[in-house]
Amino acid sequence: MIRERIEELRRQLELHNYKYYVENNPEISDFEFDTMMRELQDLERAHPEYADPNSPSVRVGSDLTSEFRTVRHRYPMLSLGNTYSLDELHEFIDRIEREAGPTDYVCELKFDGTAISLTYDNGSLTLAATRGDGVQGDDVTANVRTVRSVPLHLRGNDYPAHFEIRGEILMPYASFDRLNAEREANGEPLFANPRNAAAGTLKQQSSAVVARRGLDCTLYQLAGDNLPFKTHWESLQKAREWGFKISDRMRICHTVNEVDDFIRHWDTARHALPFPTDGVVIKVNDFAVRRQLGFTAKAPKWAVAYKFKAEQALTRIDSVSFQVGRTGAITPVANLEPVLLAGTTVRRATLHNAEQMARLDIRPGDMVYVEKGGEIIPKITGVDLSQRPADSQPFRYITVCPVCGTPLVRYEGEAKHYCPNQSGCRPQIIGRIIHFIRRKALDIEGLGEETIELLYDNGLVRTVADLYDLRAEQLAPLPRLGAKSAENIIRSIQRSKEVPFPRVLFGLGIRFVGETTAKYLAEHFRTLDAVMAASREELVQAEEIGDRIADAILEYFADETNLEIIRRLRAAGLQFEATTSERSSEALAGKSFVVSGRFSRSRDEMKALIEAHGGRNLAAVSGNVDYIVAGEKMGPAKLKKAEKLGIRIIDEEELLRMIEGNAATDAPQDGTQSVPEPLPNGSAAQTETTEKSTPDSAQQELFPKTTN
Ligand code: IVH
Repeated sequence: MIRERIEELRRQLELHNYKYYVENNPEISDFEFDTMMRELQDLERAHPEYADPNSPSVRVGSDLTSEFRTVRHRYPMLSLGNTYSLDELHEFIDRIEREAGPTDYVCELKFDGTAISLTYDNGSLTLAATRGDGVQGDDVTANVRTVRSVPLHLRGNDYPAHFEIRGEILMPYASFDRLNAEREANGEPLFANPRNAAAGTLKQQSSAVVARRGLDCTLYQLAGDNLPFKTHWESLQKAREWGFKISDRMRICHTVNEVDDFIRHWDTARHALPFPTDGVVIKVNDFAVRRQLGFTAKAPKWAVAYKFKAEQALTRIDSVSFQVGRTGAITPVANLEPVLLAGTTVRRATLHNAEQMARLDIRPGDMVYVEKGGEIIPKITGVDLSQRPADSQPFRYITVCPVCGTPLVRYEGEAKHYCPNQSGCRPQIIGRIIHFIRRKALDIEGLGEETIELLYDNGLVRTVADLYDLRAEQLAPLPRLGAKSAENIIRSIQRSKEVPFPRVLFGLGIRFVGETTAKYLAEHFRTLDAVMAASREELVQAEEIGDRIADAILEYFADETNLEIIRRLRAAGLQFEATTSERSSEALAGKSFVVSGRFSRSRDEMKALIEAHGGRNLAAVSGNVDYIVAGEKMGPAKLKKAEKLGIRIIDEEELLRMIEGNAATDAPQDGTQSVPEPLPNGSAAQTETTEKSTPDSAQQELFPKTTN
């Protein structure tokens, strides 16, 4: 009964996922969807025996981290020859037709993301691998499972038992803009373009982070042994029926003229697409013709990419200004003579940093080429030296802060200069206060950027702590405020004292400590005092905290000005402790566990138990693990690795004893004593690199052999 219900819910959720994310045509409300999802999650939690890595519930992703394993592609992931010239494209088509006679082409958009290969066995997603070097890639299955447009199970029943499908993981502009806005607010470096953002996201260690980033996936090429199709077009129509997102912006072209029309159309129409594209891919449609044409060492001879030229404009740099961010980072910005580019008037372009300016030898007064490539912010790509004035001098980068005059510094490994005068430099102070009052931080309504500037310029706030000393009478007389707004602001400030600890921690504006990092820190350390007392080694023990973030945290709390602010915020009554209701004890605090095998209770319950007593669950066996909790049928490979690393192996009973506080946790151990014998056919293969044999079927010519 329960099993049937779980299966029915999974089927329903997959169907509605498909309707929403692939067809863009939802049939049920979000509420109905969420209700079904919650029911499924509850049932799965209660019945781990029915767990399935392809359940729609896993799309939310896990916070556990794991290294990527390398997988060998069954069919190599080739690149495409490319050209920017229509003449070259025509030569390419001529060459094909000289060899194979007149033939049809499928023209598709060239999606500007990162390539992915999905493997399906008996209709279920079993592997998602990056291109890597074309022969071997990274297994990013857990991350790709969170991408809603990737089907976890196929529809219908006429799909091959085993096949691969290739396509592009994309970041739509809307997701990209949201992500960069968040990163900017956190003082993190921005992604230059959606392609980098998609590739970077796919390599995230936490699939929960991936799930939040709004990736999409479009597929454009099948690979398999003896696929039952005569043409590429036909194969993609079928793939669409199986539930894949296949672009409908593609076309069969019978002549070169039709190919040209397709290219001309999309060269402009692409600007209105919600995702980035950088060209058109022209592919021979007929698989028999493809076989006849074959491959060069790197690319098929039956396909080519025509790349759109990035739109360029030539204009003059009037001057260079410097922006100072909340973290003190300096960004040089070129002020341009306004110029029309890809439908918008461009007045400013980022110059990134001193190195970039020096590399291009950019000087005010120069005529420069401005481009909008995949990037949203226009960039300067070169100088027209023929128009440079004879008396022009190399640009001298600023050495002091343009606002407060403090000498600038460079931190190791960072391209940008920084103004170190955190407590005295106006844009930094104002930037920090604006960050503090943001919705995702202390959420103080009624205060915006302009009001903060007003308060600062009137000497009413110098730090975020000053907000809590404000009185309505001080605010009311200020321009554009008045008694009513003043009271609202004060009320809103008072209310912010109830904002939970993770958001307060985020609001402090510690460099690189974004919303998620703050949450992890709060979960791990529970109180601000514990975060402040933590050493570098202790900080990096928390989820997602690396050396760079740890150093930024240490630096923040080493600053007396910050400590004074914290003392005042504490006195004002802000939340500096995580709510403890969900914690039963601290018996396992500071210890990391990997739970593996079967137990008297579900694995999720085991993990919840560990967390409830302050322990931390890890996904993979590594040097960071303190204990393996081994149940029945634990995989022999995990066991072997644990033994090799000398990790202590305990069973369920011993874990319970630790929780009750009477286990000899530091006693020496012999490793295997309490572990049930692994079965001969244990799951070792799951943790090893997949070595797939290369098929030796007739289909090889369509998908050449993987060679090293
Ligand atoms: S076909 C054997 N079709 O472009 C060739 N590739 O420059 C298989 N790409 O690595 C690729 N859109 O990541 C193909 N419609 C499309 C594409 C496309 C984008 C990417 C792909 C490939 C790269 C080659």
